[in-house]
Amino acid sequence: MKFDAPAGINPLDREKVLTRPHTRLDGPLKVTGQAPYAYEYQPSRPVSYGYVLSAGIAKGTIKRMDTRRAEAAPGVLLVLTHENMPEQGESETPVPQQRKSSPQLSGPEVRFYHQAVALVVAETFEQARAASKLIEIEYDVQEGSYTLEDELDSAQPSEDSEDSVVGDFDRAFADAPVKVDLRFTTPDQSQSPMEPQATLAEWDSEHEILTLHTAHQVVHWVQAGIAKTLKLKPAQVRIVSAYVGGGFGSKLLFYADAVLSGAAARLLGRPVKVALTRPQYYNSTSHRPATVQRVRLAADRDGRLQAVGHDTWSGNLPGGDTEAAADQTKLLYAGDHRLIRTRLAELDLPPGASMRAPGEAVGLLALEGAMDELAEALEMDPVQLRVVNDIQHDPEKGPERPFSSRRLVEALLRGADHFGWDKRQAKPGQVREGEWLIGMGVASAFRANMVQPSGARVVLESDGTLTVETQMTDIGTGSYTILGQVAAEMLGLPLEKVKVRLGDSEFPQAAGSGGSFGANSSASGVYVACMDLRRSILQKLNFAEASTTFEDGEVRCEDNHVPLAEVAGKEGLSATGKITWGDMTEKYAQASFGAHFAEVAVNSVTGETRVRRMLSVVSVGRVMNPITARSQCLGGMTMGIGAALMENLEVDPRLGLFINHDLAEYHVPVHADIPDLDVIMLEDLDDKSSPVKAKGIGELGICGVGAAVANAVYNASGVRIRDYPLTLDKIL
Ligand code: MOS
Repeated sequence: MKFDAPAGINPLDREKVLTRPHTRLDGPLKVTGQAPYAYEYQPSRPVSYGYVLSAGIAKGTIKRMDTRRAEAAPGVLLVLTHENMPEQGESETPVPQQRKSSPQLSGPEVRFYHQAVALVVAETFEQARAASKLIEIEYDVQEGSYTLEDELDSAQPSEDSEDSVVGDFDRAFADAPVKVDLRFTTPDQSQSPMEPQATLAEWDSEHEILTLHTAHQVVHWVQAGIAKTLKLKPAQVRIVSAYVGGGFGSKLLFYADAVLSGAAARLLGRPVKVALTRPQYYNSTSHRPATVQRVRLAADRDGRLQAVGHDTWSGNLPGGDTEAAADQTKLLYAGDHRLIRTRLAELDLPPGASMRAPGEAVGLLALEGAMDELAEALEMDPVQLRVVNDIQHDPEKGPERPFSSRRLVEALLRGADHFGWDKRQAKPGQVREGEWLIGMGVASAFRANMVQPSGARVVLESDGTLTVETQMTDIGTGSYTILGQVAAEMLGLPLEKVKVRLGDSEFPQAAGSGGSFGANSSASGVYVACMDLRRSILQKLNFAEASTTFEDGEVRCEDNHVPLAEVAGKEGLSATGKITWGDMTEKYAQASFGAHFAEVAVNSVTGETRVRRMLSVVSVGRVMNPITARSQCLGGMTMGIGAALMENLEVDPRLGLFINHDLAEYHVPVHADIPDLDVIMLEDLDDKSSPVKAKGIGELGICGVGAAVANAVYNASGVRIRDYPLTLDKIL
């Protein structure tokens, strides 16, 4: 089904199972250890273990490599290097890219620190790791550039984000009575999922099929990429990603563990397990690139924006993407004169790629900080400033492109009321409790609503239960549960009668988890498959659609009540469907909206900031499950607090690596850092987004949060910091 017109009334609108607060179906499996993650699968044949040796330089060439001692070490089965790695598909870029060939050990060049330079496979993990230390390498080290600030002048426009030039920005900015011109920086950040990258590879030599149990967010992307890399047909690569221990973008791509375990398993004819260690994770996978951002906002005396300017710079290896931190500024606020530009510099740091809400998550740290400073310059309430600059259509394209739904103002006002915003003192540094200075901050939340084609197969089993199969993944987000709810709603079954199977390339191709498109897109795919199944049931029973309902495990048409088990027959009944997308995202600007409120305490002696309470009000279309949706928001808010106060990959500018490469040194919030967080979800339906009428929620929670915290820090202490994170040394 192609979605190209607003969704009409459909079975999901009954909301008997959908929108109900079901706990996660996979929860009991996970807490009892019955949900195997990639590294935990135990194949029937004996497993061998691979250990990746990572480069000790950031840029240069391997001059000499001696693997003889490693090969002779106890238990060693294979040592792979660029000298004996089987032929791979051509690489277009040193940065791994979705669906593309991403060869490993493809030559003597080292392009980033901790790039894989060898794989040692042995009978045990310890033997492999010990043998890897016996490999001798001599490098020719080259100079690299590792500091974004040094490369700003050489930065170029990037294909990922077009310039937005509307009206006459320079004149409008010069003429406006009230303006701010501010420079912000955000550091490199790491996704740091609980489960680092890991793969179990098995080669079936009889059928020439490579099976990878691997931790990934989008099954068909890694399937296509591995096939190209290892010169196989996609049908020869089976991916299993049934349980994934978090991704936050890092598992949109695949890395040395997947490629090298696959190559080694084929060479050895034995299953090979490879996991990247936590310290390897930080430099050898991907990260969110640092940004420098300049925000210029100018308003009339009533606060109406006249000129909106946002320039952003980030760096990456050649061929890598930009951190599109100015993109939300194209759509968030009104203003007739606009200049929004994204520039990309070349750096020799490890690959930069997606991290939760790429673009917005750090772009809003700057834009929403600038809005706070503009409100102060206007002597206007920051909530009010955002309200007067609301716009119901794309500010660049005009009223012909309205938003599909946009309830930013309602989120701001509801939040202000609920949070007690009226108690905020406009002047900073006014509220004191002993050593602690107390303040409040606000920020808008915005995340583009994206969609992806997504398919599913549904099988009505002979016992009247329903099985759902789709490549969609569950990265800890609740996909199993919401897809079960969608299918249950469609067939009039309780959730207990639905079995959901995910994350296997044998199932119909699906959206996967990324860009906040997963839930909405994959639920739409399941909806389409269920519609097809309903139609074949009607046909089989010769029931008229208009007078038929699916209730309590029965198909009912007037006085005829037929149990689903009977309809299924001995063989069962199945249907496969897929959603594709027409031009609704062109016709309508689509985004999820929200508002974040934070109250912080800043210690006047130590500079320490404690977040005391936070509220996010979100408008995301239909909330398919309030428990899993709320968890997404809480996770995003927690990550946003991390971005505001602590997260920072520290670059060593001499050696070109991230030096804090473990969870002891890369600080993320822990329980003690997180107070009670509150989430309000506005009752919502967006019929232009999908047949499910939902929008993305996964990343909205992180968008803007950090700015709300930073604005609260200013309101508390009077210290304005534009270089994230707001560590105490900057506050004092
Ligand atoms: Mo998200 S950064 O697209 O997993």
